[in-house]
Amino acid sequence: MRKKISFAGPWITQREIDYAVDAVKNGWYETYDLHTKRLEKAVCDYLGVKHAIATHCCTVALHLGCEVLDFKEGDEIICTDFSWVATAHAIAYTGATPVFVDVEPDSWCISADAIRKAITKKTKGIMLVHSFGQLADMDQIMAIAREHDLRVIEDAAPSLGAIYHGQKTGTFGDIGCFSFQGAKIAVSGEGGVLVTNNSPLFERAKLLSSMGRTDSQAVFWSDELGWQYTIGNLSAALALAQVERIEELVQRKRDIFSWYDSRLRDCPQLTVIREKPNCRSNYAYPSILLSENTRTRRDDILKTFRELNIHARPGFPQMSRFPMYVQRFQNPHAAAIAQRGISLPSAANTTEEDAAFVCETLKALL
Ligand SMILES: Cc1ncc(COP(=O)(O)O)c(C=O)c1O
Repeated sequence: MRKKISFAGPWITQREIDYAVDAVKNGWYETYDLHTKRLEKAVCDYLGVKHAIATHCCTVALHLGCEVLDFKEGDEIICTDFSWVATAHAIAYTGATPVFVDVEPDSWCISADAIRKAITKKTKGIMLVHSFGQLADMDQIMAIAREHDLRVIEDAAPSLGAIYHGQKTGTFGDIGCFSFQGAKIAVSGEGGVLVTNNSPLFERAKLLSSMGRTDSQAVFWSDELGWQYTIGNLSAALALAQVERIEELVQRKRDIFSWYDSRLRDCPQLTVIREKPNCRSNYAYPSILLSENTRTRRDDILKTFRELNIHARPGFPQMSRFPMYVQRFQNPHAAAIAQRGISLPSAANTTEEDAAFVCETLKALL
């Protein structure tokens, strides 16, 4: 069988190995959280934010964010209909209702116009996603939030290193959350981080991420329901090395994207999803949308890819179609991506030859 062209996978160097070994040898006793602290500082320094809490994964960071913003039953939180389900579930864990709205066809990120149309008296917040490292329209979204006094969480899970008008993702809203899960641009296996510039929110998130433990009446005393959401030191060591290398990891992804873009941009049967003006996508998952009138079905393409050991992914299904959620809007762009979207392989070990083979295969199928 032909060499596997992986959908995702990290770029591990001696630095990651050294940090992991260091954590195994030295990350105990009084230095049990040394790498966690270093990771949180590295994230703050890179993003230019005041506070970070490293977590088990991004999903729990998002949940923590929803809790500290006091989302609860009766509240409506406007969120994109196109995402991994963690985005919606994090809202639902609090009892609040996710209201699913459509995305922009050219970025696959939540549409600011759709947000405006979805606002009701019950709306308390907006949860946006920088989908696949593309940039949500933060100028408009923050303006809407100010106008209607709404809280904003950026689900920045895949977008570390992406920049909107000179400012890094995750730093616009009240809270931003990133993932270090193994398919992300920077990995630690499982892992995540919550960031904020708001000190009271940070203090509250810190408390809730460690079981609400206050020690106020006795050692181990807890004054309210919290969760054990903090990252392990060993995972933090890996994430730290990756965060320190984030600029070269972004450059690798951008190179891979350019290999696809140069071969596919003139292909009439599809649209390549490109970064917006004045933005730097990290191209976490280079993606295309097949045209409506393309005769070859998307799923047949993915099947043939598999047979050739090319691992690509379909667009996410609409979360609003899932049985636990109620649908209010139609969201045709999210529907189109669910049916005709493809994310191409972009593991860190992808070569230009691999990308060329994927493009040749795709064009032949089309
Ligand atoms: C947009 C989005 N949000 C949240 C998550 C959840 O991240 P984690 O797996 O670290 O919990 C992911 C992971 O794929 C994601 O893509």
